[in-house]
Amino acid sequence: MKNTIALFFVIGSLILLSFTGCSELKNDKTPVEPSLSVHGIGFADTTNQLSANFHAAYVRTKKYDLLLCQSCHGVDYAGGKTGQSCNSCHNKANGPENCLTCHGGGANAAPPKDLSWNMNIASRGVGAHQKHLLADTLFAKVACAECHNVPKNVKDAGHIDATDHAEIRFDSTSIFFKSNAAYNAGDVSCANTYCHGNFPGGNAVTMVWNDVTGSAAQCGTCHGDVNKLTVKEKAFPKTGHTYAAVTADCSTCHGAVVKADMTIIDANRHVNGKLN
Ligand code: HEC
Ligand code: HEC
Ligand code: HEC
Ligand code: HEC
Ligand code: HEC
Ligand code: HEC
Repeated sequence: MKNTIALFFVIGSLILLSFTGCSELKNDKTPVEPSLSVHGIGFADTTNQLSANFHAAYVRTKKYDLLLCQSCHGVDYAGGKTGQSCNSCHNKANGPENCLTCHGGGANAAPPKDLSWNMNIASRGVGAHQKHLLADTLFAKVACAECHNVPKNVKDAGHIDATDHAEIRFDSTSIFFKSNAAYNAGDVSCANTYCHGNFPGGNAVTMVWNDVTGSAAQCGTCHGDVNKLTVKEKAFPKTGHTYAAVTADCSTCHGAVVKADMTIIDANRHVNGKLN
């Protein structure tokens, strides 16, 4: 008898529990605004930007055609008929059309991040961008326009097009690319650039854009011989004034660029297209 009462008690409380459980569930339900269905869940969830539901991913599948968004959110992206402004989040100049929205975002508009939001140098879209663009102790800076056509506006012709990758446009009138400089999109490499040794006595090395070894910066890669012992021997051009022919320190004649101990004293004068 005692057991049956206990059993009833247990079953009873279970039923009661399931009822309260149910009603709690009902109260927990967030009311769904009909207008939310315009875009799916997660479209504006900035805590989950890598989600395929986030609007960035959608914009990519639409080949970045922002006209699609402007039709409802206004040409100035301030909300238009939706009343929902893009510029509340995209609060830099020109809203979503700012140069840092789709690529770059650190010091400049160049990757990282790349168009697939990769951050690592091994990614083709990231590669050696910042090595070329940022101030360095060894080499002069390179401008975007040395390698690309640079758009003034997002919609400029030649900027966003049907191709998967960015276009490389070497300016053949520039000393850097004058003789036979060539970009190979197949293996993401460039050959015969002045910067990487295409000058008398230089080594004219072919560089892989997303190489991660960092060997490109060593004395002797672009001119001279990496396998020699001292820095001076390493750096001497292979022809012309070779190590065998010239015994004076480099600084005797290139004093604006190097010190006698072979440290570069003015990066802006090294790989700047001029002999100093
Ligand atoms: C057919 C009209 C329409 C088009 C086209 C449209 N939107 Fe919207 N969008 C709305 C409406 C209405 C809302 C507000 C209600 C809602 O969130 O669904 C909204 C809201 C948003 C929000 C949330 C805003 C906030 O502050 O939470 C984002 C983000 C957004 N849209 C991005 C886009 C992007 C990106 C595009 C272009 C790819 C786009 N929309 C195209 C109608 C549109
Ligand atoms: C709730 C904040 C928010 C709103 C509103 C918003 N965005 Fe974004 N959007 C972001 C964030 C965060 C990113 C990630 C990149 C970044 O930080 O700029 C992003 C990325 C993008 C990108 C880059 C896509 C890519 O692949 O890199 C585009 C284009 C864009 N938004 C367009 C819009 C447009 C157009 C609207 C208005 C219709 C809009 N956004 C409204 C927060 C927002
Ligand atoms: C030394 C040459 C060089 C300079 C300077 C340079 N880029 Fe690039 N850029 C490249 C190469 C190489 C690629 C890879 C192209 C490919 O995938 O075939 C690339 C790719 C890109 C991409 C596409 C990324 C992706 O995900 O595919 C963007 C965007 C870009 N560059 C923007 C810039 C901007 C903006 C600047 C200046 C702030 C700049 N680049 C400066 C060589 C350069
Ligand atoms: C809505 C996204 C978006 C915005 C905003 C944007 N870009 Fe781009 N950008 C791209 C895409 C996509 C590519 C790859 C180009 C392709 O399809 O060939 C690219 C490529 C580039 C390249 C490499 C050369 C090329 O055309 O392939 C440069 C340089 C560049 N962008 C500079 C800029 C500058 C400067 C701005 C600001 C005026 C800007 N971008 C704004 C999406 C964007
Ligand atoms: C006696 C003066 C003198 C010394 C010492 C000297 N150079 Fe030069 N260097 C020149 C002159 C002049 C040129 C111009 C081209 C030529 O006549 O070979 C030149 C050209 C170069 C070039 C470009 C190659 C070319 O022909 O365009 C490099 C690289 C170079 N020097 C590096 C060095 C290095 C590294 C050292 C020290 C290891 C060094 N030079 C020592 C005078 C000198
Ligand atoms: C990325 C390729 C590259 C590497 C690595 C390199 N150089 Fe050069 N170097 C050049 C180029 C290109 C020149 C031709 C002149 C110019 O444009 O400055 C040059 C020229 C020189 C000159 C002649 C003076 C002048 O006008 O620049 C000296 C001296 C020199 N390099 C020393 C060095 C030393 C020391 C190292 C190692 C720290 C080194 N180089 C590494 C590319 C390189």
